[in-house]
Amino acid sequence: MKKETKPTTLPAGEPDSPARRRFLTGVCVSLSAVASAVAGVPVVGFVIAPLLRKEERTWRRVGAVQDFKVGVTVAVTFPNARSVSWDGPTGRTAAWLRRLKDEEFVAFAITCTHLGCPVQWKEDANLFMCPCHGGVYYANGDVAGGPPPRPLPRYNVRVRAGQVEIETAPIPFA
Ligand code: FES
Repeated sequence: MKKETKPTTLPAGEPDSPARRRFLTGVCVSLSAVASAVAGVPVVGFVIAPLLRKEERTWRRVGAVQDFKVGVTVAVTFPNARSVSWDGPTGRTAAWLRRLKDEEFVAFAITCTHLGCPVQWKEDANLFMCPCHGGVYYANGDVAGGPPPRPLPRYNVRVRAGQVEIETAPIPFA
């Protein structure tokens, strides 16, 4: 009678062996974890990067104090916070600047809080008007009528060595 021999190299290699099943399960779980990490890290980075990014803020000179008359609102332009030399004119932004008294100024974003059109200052009406959908703002930037949901954002303004400076900042939307 022939003696039956069992394979000696792969004792756990039988298809229904619990050890083999555990091993393959472990391999699958490990590969899934690696694949999830590879795919997930960029996604997580994309989602949280804006939360960790530091807001760019830079003081920009817009003119000497004596260049502005008290009570008059004028448009001033200046490079935005992240402007680089090759941006050309697209690296500039603007604000409505009003001298309140001596060295006290207020600056409003020109961007309408509805859909971002540039608002215009109407001296005779003492209002900011948006040409796109009829948004109207009072002289202090509060909404007077139309679709804008919020007042005009303001920039910080300071005077240094006789120069008026505006602190650039991203315009908040929605
Ligand atoms: S963008 Fe100004 S009212 Fe719509």
